[in-house]
Amino acid sequence: MKKEDARRVQKIDTKVDKMRMRRKDTDSLKVKENVFDEATLKALYTLCNRGFLNAIGGSISTGKEANVFLGEGKDADIAIKIYRISSSTFNSMEEYILGDPRFRNIRHAKKDIIFAWTKKEYRNLTRAKEAGVRVPEAIHTERNILIMEFLGEDERPYPLLKDIALDKETAKPIYDTVIKYIELLYVRANLVHGDLSEYNIIVNPRTMEPIFIDMGQSVTLEHPKAREFLMRDIENIMRFFKRYDIEGQAEELYSTMKEIKQKNQ
Ligand SMILES: Nc1ncnc2c1ncn2[C@@H]1O[C@H](COP(=O)(O)OP(=O)(O)OP(=O)(O)O)[C@@H](O)[C@H]1O
Ligand SMILES: [Mg+2]
Repeated sequence: MKKEDARRVQKIDTKVDKMRMRRKDTDSLKVKENVFDEATLKALYTLCNRGFLNAIGGSISTGKEANVFLGEGKDADIAIKIYRISSSTFNSMEEYILGDPRFRNIRHAKKDIIFAWTKKEYRNLTRAKEAGVRVPEAIHTERNILIMEFLGEDERPYPLLKDIALDKETAKPIYDTVIKYIELLYVRANLVHGDLSEYNIIVNPRTMEPIFIDMGQSVTLEHPKAREFLMRDIENIMRFFKRYDIEGQAEELYSTMKEIKQKNQ
């Protein structure tokens, strides 16, 4: 490790300790160093002071744009999704862009977009819940941080739909509920998930209840690509369940949903 990097890690280390974040291993520190820039640390600190967060636990996931951590909330476990402000692709661009007066505001602009995105996910989750769709309850947002209900037990997150063992009998009720949720989102919330697949549905292994997650990219029906995204969502789901001999007609489902929506208006 370079000397200045070592110093940075140590500095963050001290801060992490101050915030009573538990450091489980060096791997998760690396993750944290990458995610927790100064401003994000400050925001986490604020969240601590305001009682939303008592401690940060282990890493649940490192995605393309965000990291998800387990956390200790006021009176229950929480999931903390942190969108990374400096993605690696952006870092290498940064070198060229910073210092060029034409791009003076680009850092700012990128931050603003990420903050808006985080708020959008919060709002989409709230809206979905109001429409009767099971999603993690959105608790709070601050800058690039989204705090939500933790879906899991004993500090272990529930599995994704793609990872749970199913057969024809157990798959059918899950499929039916997923289709119902797509419909509720469309008819009641005016929303299309936009990235729906077996990767963004969690299943409670006890009740076999599906739960939609990851709604940052969800769009309202006014979006020019809303129909395209909706068809893609439906087709992803039908493709996944085909292996359990569940056959669905995407176009048919779409027409039914449209009819219901028109009747409701
Ligand atoms: N509320 C939650 N409770 C428990 N686990 C969660 C929760 N939200 C997300 N996760 C876990 O974290 C993973 C990543 O979450 P999410 O899909 O929202 O982020 P992402 O950055 O879009 O990830 P990816 O880039 O991998 O799609 C999920 O696959 C899931 O395993
Ligand atoms: Mg995801």
